[in-house]
Amino acid sequence: MKLNVFFTPISIDELYFTHKTTVVIDVLRASSTIVAALKNGAKEVVPVATVEFAMKVSGGMFGGQTLLCGERNTKKIEGFALGNSPLEFTEKVVKGKSIILYTTNGTRAIVKAKFSENLFVCSLENLSAVAHHLVRLNEDVEILCSGKSNTFSLEDSICAGKLSTEIMKTKEDVELSDAARASVSLSKSFGKNILKMLQETEHGKILIGNGFNDDLKYCSKLDITNIIPYFSGNALKILPNNLEGESNKNKTE
Ligand code: MLT
Repeated sequence: MKLNVFFTPISIDELYFTHKTTVVIDVLRASSTIVAALKNGAKEVVPVATVEFAMKVSGGMFGGQTLLCGERNTKKIEGFALGNSPLEFTEKVVKGKSIILYTTNGTRAIVKAKFSENLFVCSLENLSAVAHHLVRLNEDVEILCSGKSNTFSLEDSICAGKLSTEIMKTKEDVELSDAARASVSLSKSFGKNILKMLQETEHGKILIGNGFNDDLKYCSKLDITNIIPYFSGNALKILPNNLEGESNKNKTE
């Protein structure tokens, strides 16, 4: 099993992902929000790459069952039901709903990887569940960090390193690309106090400046759910039979 990490989606063509198993990460905040929405009962999350397409998709969907959500410069887009704060995606608001989600980097990275054979979304919230599922799949994995406007983001790279480390805890013959090795090293250097690390990142500082400090606290939580978002038919849904029991067992051992 080989693990590779892309620190940003910029250099890769979407066709690269054909037949690949891919994990997309956007800790602040798209992947954390997607996991939160599905955990709280959303029927699905449809990631889109442009605001215009988000409006077009939601227009064609059944009225009250759809929520148009997303951010520009971290803030809710005018006319949208929700922004991109995981704390907005409560059970009361999202249960049974199709969420159309546009975010600056995260949903665009997911759309870029849409030709993958298997496409999962990982945040710190569901990191161990994703790792255990990948071990069971036993395929080579491309870990795609959403980054920040096509540049490096520390929080996504550290999450990629933590995911690789978790996989290596339960699997022996794991080969790491140079980028994956670098992500593991970063996670060892910076990943001990996750909240502090998030607060000190460039994007973390912007979110704090815009009043989203509580989002950082939420996004810093490790392994609070076993839900794995899986991309199928243009939407992310909860992966069925996703090791609920197995992950719990591993945690208590
Ligand atoms: C993104 O996709 O760029 C982020 O999720 C932005 C944000 O913090 O809302």
